Amino acid sequence: MQEKKSIHGSWASRWIFILAATGSAVGLGNIWKFPYITGENGGGAFVLVYLVCIALVGIPIMMAEVFVGRRARQSPVNALTDLAEESGHSKKWGLVGFMGMLAGVLIFSFYSVVAGWVLQYIVSTASGALNNISSDDAGALFSGLLADPTTLLMWHTIFTIMVVVVVAAGVNAGLERATRIMMPALFVLLLVLFGYAMSTDGFEAGWHFMFDFDVSKLSWDAVLVALGHSFFTLSLGMGTIMAYGSYMPKRASIGSTVLAIGFLDTIVALIAGLAIFPIIFSNGMDPAAGPGLMFISLPVAFGQMAGGQFFGFLFFVLIGVAAWTSAISLLEPTVAYLVEKFEMGRTKATIALGVVVWALGIMCLGSFNFMSDVTFFGKNTFDFLDYLTANIMLPLGGILVSVFAGWVVKQKFAAEELSLKSDALLKLWLFVVKFVAPIAVAIVFVLNL
Ligand code: PFF
Ligand code: NA
Repeated sequence: MQEKKSIHGSWASRWIFILAATGSAVGLGNIWKFPYITGENGGGAFVLVYLVCIALVGIPIMMAEVFVGRRARQSPVNALTDLAEESGHSKKWGLVGFMGMLAGVLIFSFYSVVAGWVLQYIVSTASGALNNISSDDAGALFSGLLADPTTLLMWHTIFTIMVVVVVAAGVNAGLERATRIMMPALFVLLLVLFGYAMSTDGFEAGWHFMFDFDVSKLSWDAVLVALGHSFFTLSLGMGTIMAYGSYMPKRASIGSTVLAIGFLDTIVALIAGLAIFPIIFSNGMDPAAGPGLMFISLPVAFGQMAGGQFFGFLFFVLIGVAAWTSAISLLEPTVAYLVEKFEMGRTKATIALGVVVWALGIMCLGSFNFMSDVTFFGKNTFDFLDYLTANIMLPLGGILVSVFAGWVVKQKFAAEELSLKSDALLKLWLFVVKFVAPIAVAIVFVLNL
């Protein structure tokens, strides 16, 4: 078969694909969200369930997304439509791609608000405003930020523009270039974080909180949160990895590539937890503090540390970088689709989408101030969109992709694309995407009703 190429471009090498996909995966999900949901759900048992979900459901589904994308070399909607048709199934499968694009837009709207907090904290650490801050003052400072829509809007706008500029430049001049510059910086973050985590006083307490499993404390809701987060953190269930896969070189092995991405993402999340919980415990703070956890604990810790102003600054810069590379990937599937469908220029498509996500983001930042009365099912807009996307849309998208890869697409395609080392591995993968992943997700859904 002759090799198809994406009209949007291709990654220069397998390594660039790994770095770009890792850039998408490693983000606020790891450093901001994972620690706070672990805190809210009691620690150990939650972490265990999360790790099981990554290994059993996340990795196989990521392989499915990459294979579908690379086979079709198009944006998710068109990839799913064409492969379904080639396999003698309904073109309606393309609808899964639409749900994914919607999820990307909704996620971006709250993601950008949190990224905005990070930008504010870059400035605050740089200016020394957080030096020697007490945990009460750090809490008050964060609440003050949330209560101030003008400042939030400014940062949300700046972040959206940063993302639009990169995506508009295209796969090679934009996404790939950003990857080459930002990912090495991210690995420095990993090392700084790690050294820092090891040196904190409460390291042991943090370790116990994260790894002592008491399964009796686990609710079905916590299992759903863990499952949903495993999709969110790996950027699965909405077509991002599928879009990135459509730019992947033919000669790269999908299995080992995906393992590398999953491994890096998991390591970053665990290290973030091990950096944040010790500080929480050694300062008598509440691990279940919610979304503000990182923004209150880290300033306190850095404020007390020798050289803390510098390291704190560095730290928030690097979280900002992680958020940036992830947010880029939230827009890519939709931009690719708009370009394919309407033969629009990429710049125009990106700006149009940018305006939509920016406007929705205003509702999210308003959740903390002028729109705090607006609720959906008892949650403010920010919490509602977070819950809806991570706990419902992504797992649903994930099951559908899994069923698609296992039951709909010709098995010959999967065998060719994945070219796993042995037949047994292929059978194992098929068994997981056909049965294990969809059934596990379905059970968790049903038990939550
Ligand atoms: N994986 C990102 C994180 O952990 O922060 C968030 C994300 C990016 C989710 C892209 C979904 C996505 F398509
Ligand atoms: Na992640």
